[in-house]
Amino acid sequence: MTPGVRARPIVLLGDPVLRERAREVEAFDDALRTLVDEMFATMAVADGAGLAAPQIGVSRRILVVDVRHSEGDHARVALVNPVITERSEREARDVEGCLSIPGVKESVRRPVGVVVEGFDPSGEPLRVEAEGLYARALQHEVDHLDGVLFIDYLSPLKRNLLLRKYRKLREAEEDPAG
Ligand code: NI
Repeated sequence: MTPGVRARPIVLLGDPVLRERAREVEAFDDALRTLVDEMFATMAVADGAGLAAPQIGVSRRILVVDVRHSEGDHARVALVNPVITERSEREARDVEGCLSIPGVKESVRRPVGVVVEGFDPSGEPLRVEAEGLYARALQHEVDHLDGVLFIDYLSPLKRNLLLRKYRKLREAEEDPAG
């Protein structure tokens, strides 16, 4: 990691930046590469599997993913202006959480495999074929760039239960005595 790169605060549910459509990156410059380094650092400190730029308050189409598969493979990638170009017909359910909605998890149905095309932080075209956890993390992060959160996939009943639990957790954190 570049010296001086620090983790940044993570934006939580309720901040409007999480509901905006992030803008395309136009300049593949040092500022972009520093931002990507900060995203990796933020994700590592938070022990997350993925992070999108809006989650640190930057409304730009950038994501990072760092996933360890059960098979021991390690997938670590930064994608700029990513587009999902293929989705498998087969879908599966698995539990998801989000660094912007800490403390709660719920199962979400998604395609098992995807192809994502975009650019690396130097501006070189990058095509990623992913399955399983890796594919799930990529889809979750691309959603963030369109202002979509995993809770949007839940039934109203499940979403309300989850949000109630989340608010209780937040209140307990803000007011430990109460
Ligand atoms: Ni998330």
